[in-house]
Amino acid sequence: MNISKVWGVSFSPTKTSKKIVDAIASGIPGVERNSLDLTYPGKIEARTFKPEELVVIGVPVYAGRVAPLAVQRLKAIKGKTTPAVLVVLYGNREYEDALIELRDIAIRASFLPVAASAFIGEHSFSSSQIPIAPGRPDSVDLASAASFGRKVFKNISQLQDVSSLSCLQVPGNIPYKESMGPLPITPKVNQTACTHCGMCISTCPAGAITIDDALIMDVERCIFCCACIKTCPEDAVSIDAPPLQEKRLWLHENCAKRKEPELYY
Ligand SMILES: Cc1cc2nc3c(=O)[nH]c(=O)nc-3n(C[C@H](O)[C@H](O)[C@H](O)COP(=O)(O)O)c2cc1C
Repeated sequence: MNISKVWGVSFSPTKTSKKIVDAIASGIPGVERNSLDLTYPGKIEARTFKPEELVVIGVPVYAGRVAPLAVQRLKAIKGKTTPAVLVVLYGNREYEDALIELRDIAIRASFLPVAASAFIGEHSFSSSQIPIAPGRPDSVDLASAASFGRKVFKNISQLQDVSSLSCLQVPGNIPYKESMGPLPITPKVNQTACTHCGMCISTCPAGAITIDDALIMDVERCIFCCACIKTCPEDAVSIDAPPLQEKRLWLHENCAKRKEPELYY
C-alpha cells in the first residue's frame, strides 16, 4: 500500500516520547511528515487520520500503564482503518501493561496497529544526584528508532491492504494492572530562587501551575511528570517528599542495568 503522509503524535511532558516518535518518523523515507503534540492544554487539535496516512503514536508509561492524562488526550485522535505504529517510553523499570493498553486504545479509535515498541527514556524522577536511565534515549536508541521506522514502512509498502493483518500481539495482561492513584504531594517551589519567568507554567501538561504573588501548584491537577523541575532554569522546583524520594532511590539502586528497546511487528 502507498502511504501519503506520516504523522508523529505524542503526549510527552519531558520529551522522551516525542524524541522517539520523531526518530521513528525520520526513518521513513520520501514521505511528507507532520506532527501533532497532545501535551499542552489549549493547544490540542482533534483529528481523524486518513486510511492512507501512517500515524506513529508515543506516550509515557506511568505505573505500568499508559499515563492517565495521555489516555484522556488520545481521545482527540481517530483513525479510519489508519495504520499506526505504537510506542511507549518507560524509565528503565518495566512497562508492564502499557503497550497492550495503548494497542487497545488505538484499536478502539479505529487505527490498525501494524507495529509496536517499548523504548527507554530518562526517568521523570531522575536527577543529577540520583540518576535513573540518564540521557536516554541516547544516540543508539534514536538510531534504533529510525531503523524501526524504516523497517515498518518497508513492510507496509509490500502489503496490498493492511486491513487483512491479524491483531498485533504485544506483551501485557488483560485485565490491566491497577492504574496509579492520586498522590497527596506536588513539587515545591523555592520562592526566593523563582524569578517568575513562567517556563514551568507553559511546560506543565496539566495546567497545574498558576502565578499570583508566588507560584502555586495545584495538588489535584499535578501528574508528577516533573516537566516543571526539568525546565526551571533556576533549579527552583523540586519534589523530595518522602514517598517520591524513596521511590527515586529505589529506582536508582534497582533499575541501573541498561534495558534495550523491544520491537514488535
Ligand atoms: C508518575 C510516573 C510514573 C512512572 N511509572 C513508570 C513505570 O511504571 N515504569 C517505568 O519504567 N518508568 C516509569 N516512569 C518514567 C517514565 O515512563 C519515563 O521517564 C518516560 O520516559 C517519560 O516520558 P516523557 O519524557 O515523554 O514524559 C514514570 C514516570 C512518572 C512521572
